[in-house]
Amino acid sequence: MFASAVNLIALVYVCSLHPAFGQDCPNRQEIQGMLKQVQKLLSAHEASCLQSLRNLRKKINLLQSGTGKQTAKSTNSTCPKLDAPINGRKLGKSHGVGHEVHFLCDPGYEIVGSESRVCQESLTWTGQQPTCRDFNECASSPCLNGGTCVDEVNQFSCVCAKGWAGETCQSPVPTFFITTTNTSAGSTLAASTLPAATTGAYVRPSRCTIVQGTTHCTCEPGYTISGRDSYSCTDIDECELFHNGPAGKLCLHKCVNTPGGYRCSCPAGYNVTRDGRSCKDIDECATRQNNCTNDQMCVNTYGGFQCVRVDCPKIPHATYVKTSPMRCERTPCPLDNKACSQTPTSFSYHYLAVVSNLSAPRVMFRVSALRQLGDTLRFTLLGGRQARRHFTVQRSDRQTGQLMLVSPVQGPTTLEAEVEMSELERRVQLGRYITKITMFVSQYEF
Ligand SMILES: *[C@@H]1O[C@H](CO)[C@@H](O)[C@H](O)[C@H]1NC(C)=O
Ligand SMILES: *[C@@H]1O[C@H](CO)[C@@H](O)[C@H](O)[C@H]1NC(C)=O
Ligand SMILES: *[C@@H]1O[C@H](CO)[C@@H](O)[C@H](O)[C@H]1NC(C)=O
Ligand SMILES: *[C@@H]1O[C@H](CO)[C@@H](O)[C@H](O)[C@H]1NC(C)=O
Ligand SMILES: *[C@@H]1O[C@H](CO)[C@@H](O)[C@H](O)[C@H]1NC(C)=O
Repeated sequence: MFASAVNLIALVYVCSLHPAFGQDCPNRQEIQGMLKQVQKLLSAHEASCLQSLRNLRKKINLLQSGTGKQTAKSTNSTCPKLDAPINGRKLGKSHGVGHEVHFLCDPGYEIVGSESRVCQESLTWTGQQPTCRDFNECASSPCLNGGTCVDEVNQFSCVCAKGWAGETCQSPVPTFFITTTNTSAGSTLAASTLPAATTGAYVRPSRCTIVQGTTHCTCEPGYTISGRDSYSCTDIDECELFHNGPAGKLCLHKCVNTPGGYRCSCPAGYNVTRDGRSCKDIDECATRQNNCTNDQMCVNTYGGFQCVRVDCPKIPHATYVKTSPMRCERTPCPLDNKACSQTPTSFSYHYLAVVSNLSAPRVMFRVSALRQLGDTLRFTLLGGRQARRHFTVQRSDRQTGQLMLVSPVQGPTTLEAEVEMSELERRVQLGRYITKITMFVSQYEF
């Protein structure tokens, strides 16, 4: 308000200094009008300034009387002294009313009780005096494979069950030490001289060395000393052992135990990847492992393939011809045939291969207008209840609509959705373009 008044004054001032401005400057009458307005504005401004001054004065008075009371009270307004907890610290020295103190525990300890306390008007502290408790690192059961956890200050240790080692007992122990009765020192027992142990692919003889009365027996990698008998080794079932271990699954799909090792296998339609753990889809369409006929198209899907055939729709009042393997267009309508001109201008077909249980929401497909003739584009989802359960259509920019998956889909299944793009000029439809999207959802998530 004030700024506009200043501008007007500046304008009037410039004009009166420079009569040469001539017709660009307002005439006398106009200036008088403007000045009246300015006067009004300024007096309104003055009134509001006076009002805020009065308010300010009131507040200052209130504050002054308030501080008077406080100073009267402040002679005795501290809460009792607080101590720091054992194995912890106290932050904040002031014990005055309204002040806050905080408590911290040393590393390896956790706080029990109030982390912060406030001195109240009643000269007591809020909350309870905290204590610092040795943090129980064993609470999360960090020791694996039957290991026993021992809590220590700031750390833990695992006492592993027989056959396991490592900080969290995560590694199987292929080597085993046992003490036997005295025999001649340093001799090595050859495998062939061992007591008759049943040997086979999954049971192998161990290699034992006797040093100063102690026999050390070791196994080949992938084997471990049998429970009672140190002279034979049994295969480690890695699939069983690492079933959902801390590092994740050993195999993405299926683990097959083998003598001294394991391998991963994949379902039909997939090959094991180079790292041996995961599965990758085999492209049957590229490798001629499909039986699609000449008039069909091969669509590679996760774990398989589909033979698809695009046939143009048969719709009353219109004729469609195939203009490309995946597109049908309407032949020109007879003049003034409204029924014909309201049918879709074109149908496009798209086939997507997706994995089961894809996270949602996610964009699956975009439909975009290359050029726009009308003033409005509209994108809508067609295709029944099934389509609406899984999809929605959104506009992503002026020319583009996108098909969104709104909930994860479990395969194997096939989903269909149709996106209609209609072009309008002053609310009159210029054309409708239908895109049919077929999604082949695989059985597996890879
Ligand atoms: C302040 O409080 C203490 C105890 O909390 C009391 O001994 C003392 O007399 C009080 N002083 C005044 C001025 O009220
Ligand atoms: C084992 O041998 C040592 C000497 O090599 C001997 O001193 C000890 O008594 C023997 N122990 C047994 C149980 O035979
Ligand atoms: C998949 O594995 C099979 C047998 O292991 C092999 O014959 C085939 O060439 C592999 N295919 C691909 C695409 O790697
Ligand atoms: C292709 O082979 C599968 C079996 O592998 C069969 O079920 C399907 O009918 C065949 N398709 C054609 C078009 O021959
Ligand atoms: C689908 O995926 C989510 C997380 O991505 C997972 O929690 C859920 O178990 C999966 N469902 C199936 C059936 O695999």
